[in-house]
Amino acid sequence: MPETTKSSVIGAAPEGAGDAQAAASAVRDMFTSIAPRYDLLNHILSLNIDRLWWRRTARTFRHILAMPGARVLDLCCGTGDMTFALRREVWKSDARILGADFSHAMLQRAAAKSAAAARDKTPRWVEADALNLPFPKAHFDLVTSAFGFRNLADYDAGLREIVRVLRPGGECGILDFGEPKGLFGALYRVYFREVLPRIGTMISGVRGPYAYLPASVERFPSPEEMLARMESAGFSESTWSPYTFGIAGLYRGKK
Ligand SMILES: C[S@@+](CC[C@H](N)C(=O)[O-])C[C@H]1O[C@@H](n2cnc3c(N)ncnc32)[C@H](O)[C@@H]1O
Repeated sequence: MPETTKSSVIGAAPEGAGDAQAAASAVRDMFTSIAPRYDLLNHILSLNIDRLWWRRTARTFRHILAMPGARVLDLCCGTGDMTFALRREVWKSDARILGADFSHAMLQRAAAKSAAAARDKTPRWVEADALNLPFPKAHFDLVTSAFGFRNLADYDAGLREIVRVLRPGGECGILDFGEPKGLFGALYRVYFREVLPRIGTMISGVRGPYAYLPASVERFPSPEEMLARMESAGFSESTWSPYTFGIAGLYRGKK
């Protein structure tokens, strides 16, 4: 069981950020700076596999999305691709889907994409910090986060905030990168550490964010540790399912 006392706060730590507040603002500045190229880069760097991961995650929660009046929050929604994948799973139900992010520039792109999509069941967008959500307790049936949770300055505080806004019995799905093992893992690491940062920097025109990406994945707790942290935060039945040999994976928990 990992220590979860205040002295052992763990979370994202971009280079040069001395404390949690500095880390959060460095993360926000980073995503704001790459917002115009974020979607393009995502699809190039993941060879479009990211679409399969969002869809697979959304399908996992079909049973909640089909509930009449379900309330769904997609945290760290960025330009909204996870949010749109959830919306696609909402067939006849009137589930309400909300995307939240603290980067205004990322949300602007999400809103532009939803304006171009079908008007019905369009998600709503809210500018909010995942560590201090503007929602009452026990409000949501489902909270998801795709590739965003890893960027929080305090993972335990992030988990506690998700537990707070979930209703009892509500579920959480955190999709994020992992570190594949074996020979495939060794090859993948060369790509992830050496090739990806170069391509990302070249296309985005911004130095930094794409070097931060592999560093942040290396810093992220192992599945065993993350599951223990989820249980300490108040989740039960926590599981981790690897996607694509463990390049990514879905953490699930129930309040
Ligand atoms: C890698 S992007 C993921 C976006 C989207 N979910 C996806 O799958 O493409 C991470 C997002 O998390 C957001 N983020 C990071 N820390 C946050 C926080 N504390 N509160 C809200 N959003 C945050 C960033 O602004 C960024 O848009």
